[in-house]
Amino acid sequence: MTSKELFDSIKKKLSDNSIDNYENEAYFIIEKTLSLSRTDLLLNFNQEVSERQADYALKVTAERIKGVPIQYCIGEWDFYGETYKVGEGVLIPRPETEELCEIVIDELRNMSNPSVIDLCSGSGCIGLTIKKNVPDAKVFLVEKSRDALKYLIQNASDICPNEFVSIVNGDVLKPDSFDETFDKVDVIVSNPPYIRSDEINSLQKEVQLEPKMALDGGEDGFDFYRVICKGWDRYLKNGGIMAFECGENQAEYICSLFDNEVFTTEIKYDFNGTDRFVIGRKKNK
Ligand SMILES: C[S@@+](CC[C@H](N)C(=O)[O-])C[C@H]1O[C@@H](n2cnc3c(N)ncnc32)[C@H](O)[C@@H]1O
Repeated sequence: MTSKELFDSIKKKLSDNSIDNYENEAYFIIEKTLSLSRTDLLLNFNQEVSERQADYALKVTAERIKGVPIQYCIGEWDFYGETYKVGEGVLIPRPETEELCEIVIDELRNMSNPSVIDLCSGSGCIGLTIKKNVPDAKVFLVEKSRDALKYLIQNASDICPNEFVSIVNGDVLKPDSFDETFDKVDVIVSNPPYIRSDEINSLQKEVQLEPKMALDGGEDGFDFYRVICKGWDRYLKNGGIMAFECGENQAEYICSLFDNEVFTTEIKYDFNGTDRFVIGRKKNK
């Protein structure tokens, strides 16, 4: 069988099983299983593939058809120009989170030797992107889930092999427990769980296979923002910023969680025009 025949067969299976993005996903599966870039694949479409490669590609396709997210099927996903290992137990990095990184990186350009805490870091996509793009930043990543931590540690060593980042296993909802760990930093950034608990069961099938712990933001979805705005303020320098990603229509309420004697707030919009990011600037006293 040639790689083109294998590609066509995967594409058809995905399309027959109502996978919307079937052509692109067929490329992802082939690229991953044959270890070829898309360009190399297109240049070598008539090349024979081994039976082992074809079996592996078809096994991955069968997983995808069962509803497993494509990112988990291939075990990796690209984010801000780097490839992150992902799988069951860790949230798949989303494109809008790249915009949160961009916002924070822009802020850090005006600071020298800044320090940053990424709360609820999951795969590490936010904190590691910041470290990669602002090498003089001191970056801490805080995550509670042991399953997510395995990916975070692997991604830190793949993506920032020669830089030092601090990975902290802890509970963001217990800010007091970090008194011995942190001094004050310049930036606290977070994309915490923000879905309302009663909404989780109605999410798309693929999203429901992502860890509930990465999604569930409590009864009204704001548990983490409440604790971070009030409880993590003690770890933020005067003049520093808190930067959040949030769900649609949550930004205004999050602004109200900041003490307005101490913070000014700003809402920023993602590429779809959704109110997706909240920046809290701590006043210089
Ligand atoms: C929405 S995901 C974000 C992951 C990553 N920052 C990103 O943007 O892709 C939220 C993360 O918070 C972690 N988490 C949930 N509860 C936590 C807690 N109490 N303390 C620390 N991390 C927690 C989850 O395991 C998950 O990795």
